[in-house]
Amino acid sequence: MLKRRALLKGALVAGAYAGGIGLAARHSGASAAPALHLSARPTEAHLTDAGVTRGAMTYGDGEVPPVLRLRRGKAFSLRLDNRLDEPTTIHWHGLRIENRMDGVPFLTQPYVYPGDGFDYAFTPPDAGTFWYHPHCNTLEQIGRGLAGVLVVEDPDDPVFDAEITLNLRDWRLGGDGQFIAQFRPRDAARAGTFGTVRTANWRQAPQHDAPAGGLVRLRLAATDVTRILDLVVDGAEAQVIARDGNPVEARFALDGLTIGPGQRLDLALRMPDGEGSVAELRDRRGTRPAVLATFRSVGRSLKREIGDLPPLAANPLPDPDLSSATEIPFILSASAEERPKDGICGSLGYNFWAINKVPWADDTGDPTAPLAEMKAGRTYVFNVENPTPQLHPLHLHGLVFRPMNSNKQAIRPHVTDTYLILPDEKVQLALVADNPGDWVFHCHIIEHQKTGMTSYIRVV
Ligand code: C2O
Ligand code: CU
Repeated sequence: MLKRRALLKGALVAGAYAGGIGLAARHSGASAAPALHLSARPTEAHLTDAGVTRGAMTYGDGEVPPVLRLRRGKAFSLRLDNRLDEPTTIHWHGLRIENRMDGVPFLTQPYVYPGDGFDYAFTPPDAGTFWYHPHCNTLEQIGRGLAGVLVVEDPDDPVFDAEITLNLRDWRLGGDGQFIAQFRPRDAARAGTFGTVRTANWRQAPQHDAPAGGLVRLRLAATDVTRILDLVVDGAEAQVIARDGNPVEARFALDGLTIGPGQRLDLALRMPDGEGSVAELRDRRGTRPAVLATFRSVGRSLKREIGDLPPLAANPLPDPDLSSATEIPFILSASAEERPKDGICGSLGYNFWAINKVPWADDTGDPTAPLAEMKAGRTYVFNVENPTPQLHPLHLHGLVFRPMNSNKQAIRPHVTDTYLILPDEKVQLALVADNPGDWVFHCHIIEHQKTGMTSYIRVV
């Protein structure tokens, strides 16, 4: 069994990749100001050979949003400083935290005006790979760069020889490396508007070194606004150890797994033995498959085996009681409703989509009414139907669900905050409504979200 100490020895390698900010437990006082400040600000980005991309947006002091590293069960706090010239917020995607820290304008907090700040403070209950992003003018803000990976560590997690975190996303850039329009209306009404430049941590197909024959924890976050990925690894053994932040019940070999915007995947990668050998992470979906990143073996083989890895520590999740569950229908559809009003958080000006026939353009004000009201502590089953011709990564804030029966795909047991529903699929998602508040339930293809495929549910 690998020991914690082995990780510390490997920290040289791991630290070089992670580029993380270690901030666990720096905030111990009850109501002191947050020790950590994170600004949202404009930046220039080095994304293409055509030169610097102007008008990008980032978090923190560097070019690329930092990987925030938290500890499960340890208080965390952070002040968002808004140095953009438009309002913003931060949503902590996948974290089951208090509603008032969820970062959704109108529902959970006021938006944060330029020059203002907001103190976020919470204790993450679950370990795993998550991410953070604005919930205001999201197509523009995420599209221009505001999306960072968030890792919650568990001291009992198995130890790897290295850890690599990849923020996988596209950019809508022209040949001169400058931003072009974030969307085309006709595409928003279909699969969404795709980016033109694909990156991992804001670099095209970067190469990472890792110990030959070593075990790498590869944390992947699909933070793009549109693109769905079908992931494979060539040249190294790769097993899925967690999905969307939660450990899988039983590890399985990665053999093409499709994930949509908002979803995460944790892989155990066994590096090739030969020094200089290169493994590749590829997306094989669509007409233009791509290499997303490569991993090169360095040093003498450590001769590890994935089989030696103990399982990840389980997260403290509530167990649904299916015998007492209440079923709630959610039907996705296209919509031809009137255009949404302009909101301070940016409206795309169209309603193309709806949930239960109600379109809500998300970060515009006046949400109608919650689509469902749930009693705290009770079990519910969402019966979700997708009679549209598109896939939709459906994300629920503040709670997690277990996909159960689908008419379209075999379900491996797992717990998630984002379910990628296929065209014509009917799926049952079971959950315990154990977190009170108003929680957004929306498609994470941001053009769908912002043209109506958004709703919210209330837990009381
Ligand atoms: Cu990734 Cu409503 O969020
Ligand atoms: Cu969608």
